Amino acid sequence: MTNIAIIGANGTIGSAIVREALGRGHTVTAVVRDRAKVSVGDPHLRVSVGDVLDPASMSAAAQGHDVVVSAVGGGDGPGHLATIAPAARSLVEGLRALGDQAPRLVTVGGAGSLSVGDGKQVWDAPDLPEFLLQIMHAHGDALDFYRTVDDVAWTNISPAATIAPGERTGTYRTALDDLLLNERGESAISVEDYAVAVLDEVDEPRHTGRRFAVGY
Ligand SMILES: NC(=O)c1ccc[n+]([C@@H]2O[C@H](COP(=O)([O-])OP(=O)(O)OC[C@H]3O[C@@H](n4cnc5c(N)ncnc54)[C@H](OP(=O)(O)O)[C@@H]3O)[C@@H](O)[C@H]2O)c1
Repeated sequence: MTNIAIIGANGTIGSAIVREALGRGHTVTAVVRDRAKVSVGDPHLRVSVGDVLDPASMSAAAQGHDVVVSAVGGGDGPGHLATIAPAARSLVEGLRALGDQAPRLVTVGGAGSLSVGDGKQVWDAPDLPEFLLQIMHAHGDALDFYRTVDDVAWTNISPAATIAPGERTGTYRTALDDLLLNERGESAISVEDYAVAVLDEVDEPRHTGRRFAVGY
């Protein structure tokens, strides 16, 4: 049994990660800004209040846990720019303050920086709307920051280009920095199977200090 703090636990992806973690018998602390947004019914679920942009708050939220998972988002493009890379810095600062007691950090990333061949990345596609580019580059900036960190055990997990609630098949493929495409040339993963991949990494770390991608 692992003791996991999940930031953004009431979000679309965060709540699936909470369900997957509880389903595996782990103990979960849902870290949210608004306690009322989490319904507590599982004896292994507790709720704490925290702001990912406040390092002291993240230190307090992380204390006593084995792993911190962050699934925070920023809503629109400007919201992501104001949230994702600052959150990365705040989480790392908050964990650093715990020294030897710092939990591992597993963060939800973005698909925009994944390679699509010919030296191009997803965000190089023509005619992408500005808000989407902002979201993609917010995650890219966070990943650039994580890659400078060698004193906190981090992993950043990029979903496929399309991630939506669907079926939990329990199967997925991984790559390091390449966009995964299925046999129809689509890049997709269900929220539920993405959560399986996150918990597989929590349970058995294989990508410490790096980003990896999840897709069908
Ligand atoms: N293909 C892709 O690359 C792809 C696709 C989808 C999503 N994503 C990424 O996955 C992440 C999660 O997406 P989602 O759809 O699950 O987002 P979501 O449903 O909007 O949830 C975002 C969560 O972040 C929390 N949050 C925001 N600011 C916070 C703060 N300062 N402190 C603590 N919590 C905060 C929100 O809490 P409140 O309820 O209090 O606001 C909410 O729980 C995002 O970063 C998104 O960009 C990537």
